[in-house]
Amino acid sequence: MAIESIPRAGVGLQLNHTIFTSTLSLKGIQMDFGEVLCDTFAGPVDSCYAIEPEARPVIDAMMEVLPLIAHGNYGAEFGFDPVESTRAHLRHNPVAHAMKSPWYADHMLFGDRASSYMWSSPLQFTKSEIERVAGRAAKLQDLFGMPVIHENAFYYAPFPGSTIAEADFISEIMMKAGTHMLLDLHNIYANSVNFEGYDAWKYLRTIPLDRVVEIHLAGGEPIEDWYHDFHNDYVPDEVWKMLDYVLDRAPNLKAVCLEAQGARHTPSAKQVTPEWGKMISHDLGKARTMWEAKLGEAAREGAH
Ligand SMILES: [Fe+2]
Repeated sequence: MAIESIPRAGVGLQLNHTIFTSTLSLKGIQMDFGEVLCDTFAGPVDSCYAIEPEARPVIDAMMEVLPLIAHGNYGAEFGFDPVESTRAHLRHNPVAHAMKSPWYADHMLFGDRASSYMWSSPLQFTKSEIERVAGRAAKLQDLFGMPVIHENAFYYAPFPGSTIAEADFISEIMMKAGTHMLLDLHNIYANSVNFEGYDAWKYLRTIPLDRVVEIHLAGGEPIEDWYHDFHNDYVPDEVWKMLDYVLDRAPNLKAVCLEAQGARHTPSAKQVTPEWGKMISHDLGKARTMWEAKLGEAAREGAH
């Protein structure tokens, strides 16, 4: 389905593992969709189950309550094995279809079959990698039979030998592959804090914003001289400014999603406290206010 004809999903929350295993009540927190990590429900690649048998009823139960959007963490689609043999195709693809997701969002990370412990290894930003990765992205989208969108990564070091800017790299891949983007504004912000010369605003001016389908928001934590993408604090002011900028310029934007995996101002990062619920409510509410102010009546289209 063409991106233009997909209805807007609205403002939602990533229902990640931390939220699943918490006792945090999400009652009273308004959300239009839940973003779900396919990894959570997929069977191992060497098993006969595309979807874990006990996970299927959970997906069905969630779909009764909310529309679901599929996201993949460890798909290994940008490694070197045939795309048909990757976890993204063999496992995330059926999970995304079971969820009736309007698209599949992957991560623009390196990966391989031997290990999924590639997090968070960026691709090598070079011209030759654009050719290789764009071919794989196009193939993956064909295999999925639904739009594939790529999330820009937070990382701890650029891949050695990178010669071009990340935003140029991703833009060219999308144009060649006919794929789209999950623009993680906090990942851009975090990389701009950590890497000299990584300019968040130049990044936003470079990306063709008409290819942005979804946005991720989050907060993070500075530890010593590094800013971490821990999803454990309020969305920073600069990220809200970036959202404001993109909302004005992304005609095919369908969804804004908050990622939250704990609150840092607690004795334990993963401890579920009222503060965490307050943080989620605040940031989702602010995102919704901005979304509705920019889109007016159209903000409700397709909303649950
Ligand atoms: Fe993200």
